[in-house]
Amino acid sequence: MKETKLDENRVAATPDSVKALIKLGFDVAVEQGAGDKASFPDHLYEATGATVAKNQGDALAGADVVLTVRGLEPNALGAVQSGALLLGLLDPYGSNAAIAAYAKAGVRAVALEFVPRISRAQAMDVLSSQANLAGYKSVLEAAHYYNRAFPMMMTAAGTIAPARVLVMGAGVAGLQAIATARRLGAVVSATDVRLAAKEQVESLGAKFVMVEDDEVKDAETAGGYAKEMSEAYKQKQAALIAETIKKQDIVITTALIPGRPAPLLVSEDMLKSMKPGSVLVDMAVEQGGNVAGAKAGEIVRRDGVTIVGHRNLPSLVATDASSLYAKNLLNYLTPLVDSETGKLVLPDGDEIIEGSLVTKDGAVIHPRLLDAA
Ligand code: NAI
Repeated sequence: MKETKLDENRVAATPDSVKALIKLGFDVAVEQGAGDKASFPDHLYEATGATVAKNQGDALAGADVVLTVRGLEPNALGAVQSGALLLGLLDPYGSNAAIAAYAKAGVRAVALEFVPRISRAQAMDVLSSQANLAGYKSVLEAAHYYNRAFPMMMTAAGTIAPARVLVMGAGVAGLQAIATARRLGAVVSATDVRLAAKEQVESLGAKFVMVEDDEVKDAETAGGYAKEMSEAYKQKQAALIAETIKKQDIVITTALIPGRPAPLLVSEDMLKSMKPGSVLVDMAVEQGGNVAGAKAGEIVRRDGVTIVGHRNLPSLVATDASSLYAKNLLNYLTPLVDSETGKLVLPDGDEIIEGSLVTKDGAVIHPRLLDAA
């Protein structure tokens, strides 16, 4: 489907993934222009044997499966047949109204954010595939707004010092940001509340900065995510960050806690302590932000520093982001196609389906959403 959300350049199926879907036995319709912003023009889809549908209604008519990046608008749901499977990054905690509309329309909606992080599901993990590219792009954006160079340069006219980069949150995005900043020649340090991140950070040649007290032994959930830390820990962490951040030129923040607002890690006082010309990229800006004063979709200049609050960084690398995303969707669907009948079957009790299906038979069914309500 052609995406409708502002600044969404990605597309949920690429010519390669469509080819594979057809091979699996699907008849594929692609909405006209769906891939344009990701550099996949209609004729590439046509060449795979897919139909290019003139409009959204035609593309949706009779579909058993609807592939999207960010879901459908409620007013599109009239064209979707009851029982259809809809896949997308549905923002399950942030978009209650949309999830309720899927339920009402009888759609079986899959929120790909909820696919459990078990090894069998690694190839379907859209959070990782998209965060990885976002981490890469965050460093390029920082370099763009930074008025100096990243690598050390020794020239006849003098020496340029390497940029000092601090990455806060060393998950998938943070680790790629570290690797990218290192490739550009920066001196990199990173912080996290999960002790497991230490080895990964150090293996990328960056310095790990962390408050290592008893609380961090229990800072990671069984799923590998961070928990919210105590007030006492947050204060100790803030003191350490305050000391570190003064010396940085670039700060990339990626810290998230699933289902909670992002932790505020860079305070106004810390911003004031930074060198003029420093650049911060707040990747958590849409979940409330890690940096004081960051605004989603805006570039904020204050106290001599620039705070970059781009929404949706993966969309700025739309071709690669779409290719990986489309492959994730294909990997989700492939085991659901019965090899003998070619029909789509959602097996009962499957950990991946149960983990990610949020609506069914007219109701919101996911325990995490029912708990949150
Ligand atoms: P995320 O996007 O939820 O959060 C980003 C990072 O912020 C995390 O590393 C988190 O620990 C950190 N963070 C949270 N609060 C913080 C604070 N106050 N200060 C500093 N850092 C803070 O995490 P993401 O990128 O999704 O990865 C989480 C974990 O899941 C990682 O260990 C990753 O390696 C693991 N993972 C496992 C997969 C699998 O087994 N299939 C797939 C992908 C990731």
